[in-house]
Amino acid sequence: MLPNAISLFSSSGIGDLGLRANGLNTVICCELLEERMNLFRNNYPNTKCFQGDIWSLKDEIVKYYNSNFTEPPFLVLATPPCQGMSSNGMGKMLNDYRKGLRPKMDERNRLIIPAIDIILALRPEWVILENVANMTNTLIYDENGELINIIDYIRKKLGSIYCGEPIVVDVADYGVPQHRKRLITVLSQSKKANKLFAKGGKLIPDYTHSEQDTLFTKHWVTLREAIGNLPSLRAEKGKNKATGYNELHKVPLLDEKKLFWIDNTKEGDTAFNNQCVNPNCGYQGNRIHGASHDRDGINKSHTDTPLYCEKCGALLPRPWVEDKKTGEKRLMKGFISAYKRMKWDEPASTLTQNFQYACSDNKIHPSQSRVLSLYEALVLQSIADYDYSFSLNGKMCSDGLIRDTIGESVPPRVIDLICANIIKISS
Ligand SMILES: C[S@@+](CC[C@H](N)C(=O)[O-])C[C@H]1O[C@@H](n2cnc3c(N)ncnc32)[C@H](O)[C@@H]1O
Repeated sequence: MLPNAISLFSSSGIGDLGLRANGLNTVICCELLEERMNLFRNNYPNTKCFQGDIWSLKDEIVKYYNSNFTEPPFLVLATPPCQGMSSNGMGKMLNDYRKGLRPKMDERNRLIIPAIDIILALRPEWVILENVANMTNTLIYDENGELINIIDYIRKKLGSIYCGEPIVVDVADYGVPQHRKRLITVLSQSKKANKLFAKGGKLIPDYTHSEQDTLFTKHWVTLREAIGNLPSLRAEKGKNKATGYNELHKVPLLDEKKLFWIDNTKEGDTAFNNQCVNPNCGYQGNRIHGASHDRDGINKSHTDTPLYCEKCGALLPRPWVEDKKTGEKRLMKGFISAYKRMKWDEPASTLTQNFQYACSDNKIHPSQSRVLSLYEALVLQSIADYDYSFSLNGKMCSDGLIRDTIGESVPPRVIDLICANIIKISS
């Protein structure tokens, strides 16, 4: 029989592809949102799916496991939501709090508590926790209302049973063609793992890739290697889908002005730095965009970046907004990471749920006028390397669901390598 795994905060089951690749059987999953759970169910028809809030389902999950299996699970994979923990999320949380819009601590950060309750009740041999790197800075209220750092909470609850440690990992170091920093905590109560850990060994696998080739690692997989040979697209009607190719190789349309900005943007640069395109001028020395910290330490983008050529006065192809009444144009507010092209010879920037918004950080294709296609995102998140279906009731699910599923997922290649390693340690 295959070793049992339990997946908590499973979303549509992308991380679980790494479990399946190693012969682990996800017998239970738990996810709040119905449409994500439906995709999970479709892809893992033999898994018992608990759809709803883990706080109210945790006892039922434990009861179900204990009534159906005699051995403890081999693995619990828990990937709680990270919105409240990323530095962006934390900044927004603080701002909202100052405006009196939200409670001081994001309740989502406390979702680790019911996950640990399940772990303590079922005592799996291995645990994999995955979250944003900034999780180390997060404070939560524990079950007694005491404020505690989330890592200290995990240590306090599991430290006497499990060995292991949280490690910040860039998934590019595991051959995923994307920079994505995550905090991965692999814990084990197996004797072999304890012995290894006590000798200073790591429970996560060795990196397979690095910036440059070395004796032991290959260079990071670049965008050119990963998606350089895919059919060209343009975010314009009639050109934004590839015919006769993967149906998810398609991009949203962009309006004329955005295409004008992006058409004139160099690889690795932002449209905010575009220079004069007046054929009679072509001045390349217009001041470029920047940002600096104000007196409160808040990073603010400059507001004096020119929108008109400082030599000939022609409109620059830089992001602008237009006054509806007067038609007057002014530079759009935005950071230098907005409307920015990625570089061909580097891994992609982190894919979030916003990866199809040109204005989001580093989201423009290195040389074509568009964002990444859904298919390219599947490649860059390593999902395309596995067998997975986005169809529901025989129809492709919505682009929004695919985008959310990709943006929130853990690259299956990383979970695959971690599982292969823990199986190696255990055997
Ligand atoms: C970071 S995503 C997990 C991604 C997943 N491991 C994958 O690779 O596809 C976190 C998931 O937790 C779910 N979630 C949020 N609050 C929850 C709750 N109270 N109970 C159960 N699941 C919850 C979210 O809907 C989201 O799909």
